[in-house]
Amino acid sequence: MSFPEVRLRRLRQSRAVRDLVRETSLEPRQLVLPLFVREGLTKPVAIGSMPGVAQHSIDSLRAVAVDAAEAGVGGVMLFGVPAVRDARGSGADDPRGILNVATEALAAEVGDALVVQTDLCLDEFTDHGHCGVLAADGSVDNDATLERYASMALAQARAGSQLLGLSGMMDGQVAVIRAALDAEGFTDTLLLAYAAKYASAFYGPFREAVDSQLTGDRRTYQLDPGNRREGVREAVVDAEEGADIVMVKPAMAFLDVLREVRDTVNIPVWAYQVSGEYAMIEAASANGWIDRRAAVLESLLSIRRAGADAVLTYWATEAARWLRD
Ligand code: PBG
Repeated sequence: MSFPEVRLRRLRQSRAVRDLVRETSLEPRQLVLPLFVREGLTKPVAIGSMPGVAQHSIDSLRAVAVDAAEAGVGGVMLFGVPAVRDARGSGADDPRGILNVATEALAAEVGDALVVQTDLCLDEFTDHGHCGVLAADGSVDNDATLERYASMALAQARAGSQLLGLSGMMDGQVAVIRAALDAEGFTDTLLLAYAAKYASAFYGPFREAVDSQLTGDRRTYQLDPGNRREGVREAVVDAEEGADIVMVKPAMAFLDVLREVRDTVNIPVWAYQVSGEYAMIEAASANGWIDRRAAVLESLLSIRRAGADAVLTYWATEAARWLRD
């Protein structure tokens, strides 16, 4: 060949060379496992829309959290499914509410091995399924919801949650919760702001996971999928309000937002590989249309490459084991 010797394939010639020059790493410590605990269960119940994922009893929850810790996973993010719901989501800040009771159990069991995290949102606890309380006209009342979030934050911190995942998309939630925690001495409790959380069709399977009561949608508080700048703006505002970490969610359909957020803020940025992303790869794998393990690892590596410092994924424990092998 006579052209100038630009041989890009030199860097791809062997596994050893490729391993040495790979730009992006994927490690167990960068993975966070979302977990569901349901009040009243004595054994786990499979979630049909998320094969391999279950709603847990307190005992089975402990076991999967220990398993995650042994695999080297960086954290678990806990969601609660209460037996009874009401308009204000009373179970959310009740110290005997399922999420707070389960948090206590997890903090005791694995709190030294990984970061025990809790979802802070009202949607699992309200009988209308919205992330906040409703005004008389049926709209989601931002400022009345903030009072509920502050109370929920204190209940979770008291239960031993080390990191609160603020997923409700109410304006001012980071500042209000930070102030409420600090006033009670919880200055070490970390805040993860679901800053750029889009109103996404990819949350579909999750609605079964938490027995969601929602009719309609969340478009008056979650972001429009067409808007990238607005997602970046949310992340900037949340960082200014005191978020320790910001998140982009979903992950795979919003990798451009993830990259731009990573380039804009100087705090950790996480991404949530949501239920629909999980379900798609599981369904294609079950049909033999895709190599499951390769597709899962590629999806996670790509989310890291786009800018995520850590990834919430339902494959966290399994992927951590693959990465260690
Ligand atoms: C709301 C919440 C949702 C998810 C996480 N937190 C659902 C929603 O906003 O409708 C979705 C997670 C997933 O799909 O895996 N508390």
